[in-house]
Amino acid sequence: MKITIIGAGNVGATLAQRLIERDFADVVLLDIIEGLPQGKALDIQQSAPILGFTHRILGTNRYEDTDGSDVVVVTSGIARKPGMTREELIKINAGIVSDVVAKTAQHSPDSIIITVANPVDALTYLALKASGFSRHRVFGLSGVLDSARFASFIAQELNVSATEVSCFVLGEHGQNMVVLPRLAKVKGQPLADLVPTTTIAALSQHTVGGGAEIVSLLKTSSAFYAPSAAILKMVLAVAQDKKELMPVAAYLTGEYGLSDVVIGVPVRLGKNGISEFVELELTFDEKEELAASAEAVRQQIASLPDQC
Ligand code: 2OP
Repeated sequence: MKITIIGAGNVGATLAQRLIERDFADVVLLDIIEGLPQGKALDIQQSAPILGFTHRILGTNRYEDTDGSDVVVVTSGIARKPGMTREELIKINAGIVSDVVAKTAQHSPDSIIITVANPVDALTYLALKASGFSRHRVFGLSGVLDSARFASFIAQELNVSATEVSCFVLGEHGQNMVVLPRLAKVKGQPLADLVPTTTIAALSQHTVGGGAEIVSLLKTSSAFYAPSAAILKMVLAVAQDKKELMPVAAYLTGEYGLSDVVIGVPVRLGKNGISEFVELELTFDEKEELAASAEAVRQQIASLPDQC
């Protein structure tokens, strides 16, 4: 298996390291900056004798080296600075993503594309259009990361292992995300049976601001450890044909009563990308929240530069 990562910044390079150390695929790390992907890839490769992986990682500035990739992860794009919203990145990142995806479609026409650059819902919509691929093969990082943050905050609150928490976050990967406390469970018990509603509200709010909290702490970077781990989970589901249920930014054609928009919804991921769009039973209020989330993304999509 061949996996290409476009963008050798914090997310891309950390993902490259996580992937190669799992030792199931060759990895190509591409960036436009001369030397950056080459240096990071060489450094990671030199850990092979110590960590024992057998696959190879290549750093390059040439799309020719990415030819025939099975999965292409698009991390290239600028990250937020403290105080910025993801939406403010759209003009610059739209140009980068449309260029990168057009080249990806040319060099890896059978690949699955995973979009990471923000605002990821609108840019996944753009990537789908720019690639000409089916909606099963183009999706974005959103709910896996947001759900991990929600689970992490619940685990801290209840002093349990995060692996004993299951939860879902849907909708926009942004201020209008739809945190679903009603579906959250700790060791199989509903969250609502364990903590008061005020605490649930605080945990949900913390999740919505989870990305911005890290940007404000790091100042010059957005998060990359949890994002890269979330992308790893998505890539492993594809590589191992797991048909695993997880929320991703995906293009809808009627699911949840929504069409021609990309938002985070539960899907099953397998070797051909999205094998199933899963419609959860939502309450009236949750459906309203999801529709409002979709409307926020539609406005971002409408603001995409025409030339993209
Ligand atoms: C985050 O939420 C970068 O959007 C990503 O950290």
